[in-house]
Amino acid sequence: MKNPNANSDLIARKYMDSLVIEERVLGAVRPSSKVIFLGKEFDTPIMAGALSHLKNGMAPYAEGARLAGAVACIGMGDNKTLGECIDTGADVIKIIKPYADREEIFSRLQYAREHGALAVGLDGGHAIKEESPEFDTIVGCPMKLPTLEEMKEYISFAGLPFFIKDILSVRDAVLAKEIGAAGVIVGHHHNLMRWATPPVYLMKEIRKAVGDDFILIADGGIEDGFDAFKALAMGADMVCVGRALMPPYIKEGAQGVANTIRTMNDELLSMMFRTASADVRNIDPTVIHEGWWL
Ligand SMILES: Cc1cc2nc3c(=O)[nH]c(=O)nc-3n(C[C@H](O)[C@H](O)[C@H](O)COP(=O)(O)O)c2cc1C
Repeated sequence: MKNPNANSDLIARKYMDSLVIEERVLGAVRPSSKVIFLGKEFDTPIMAGALSHLKNGMAPYAEGARLAGAVACIGMGDNKTLGECIDTGADVIKIIKPYADREEIFSRLQYAREHGALAVGLDGGHAIKEESPEFDTIVGCPMKLPTLEEMKEYISFAGLPFFIKDILSVRDAVLAKEIGAAGVIVGHHHNLMRWATPPVYLMKEIRKAVGDDFILIADGGIEDGFDAFKALAMGADMVCVGRALMPPYIKEGAQGVANTIRTMNDELLSMMFRTASADVRNIDPTVIHEGWWL
């Protein structure tokens, strides 16, 4: 990559920083961040994002989300690792890689269903190499972009709510809904695609196209509770935080993850209070303005 501007993380950061929020304090009531998600109540819409290969293992990461009353997404890994995460008592969404060997996908879907995962998903976009038109190999495992028929097969085999991750268009979100997904995780997998539209930029349009009965999760570049507020106001039901949880996780393990999610949730709540947003499902999108002068 020769052009340093071809960086979707930077593009998303610039967009997020261009969004400003108006204040609506008159008559505002102390807000609640509790959310019902997939039929369960959580303390926060901020989820631990689908990370993998963390130095201290994945179970304390999931445990950190549990301590904060949050959902834990878990990325690439074997069934044993998923089992250890579920055993912490965390509500886990297992995001499966688009393995070329379909049995790798079926075995993980089956394990997730039989061992009490909250939901499953697949990060389809990671099948394609970043800068050449071939399928990728990740940690020695060949990937393949599932066909729509294969995706439908995974969704119906799962027997759990199914999320397609790394979705970044109205077209794909609508297709995902049509083939039976419970929702999509809107993002670009931290710059896997160059010049990607910022996930939050697309959120309003996607929400309008899919309606309210389809779950939208914002992923990518959410670094604090103010970013989370913006994503939720633009139409997301939940948000994922990935890299921002890594330094506290490495330093303090599960407590680091929990404390960081709690701090972000306090920031989110303060912004909800200031905008008269009584709960997460009732943030008026018109409080957000594009600061063209920034
Ligand atoms: C160390 C690391 C491992 C990751 N592993 C996975 C994975 O296995 N599966 C997946 O879907 N995404 C994975 N991701 C991508 C994240 O889920 C997320 O999409 C991305 O980091 C953008 O979010 P962020 O800006 O909050 O980090 C990984 C990211 C990092 C930094």
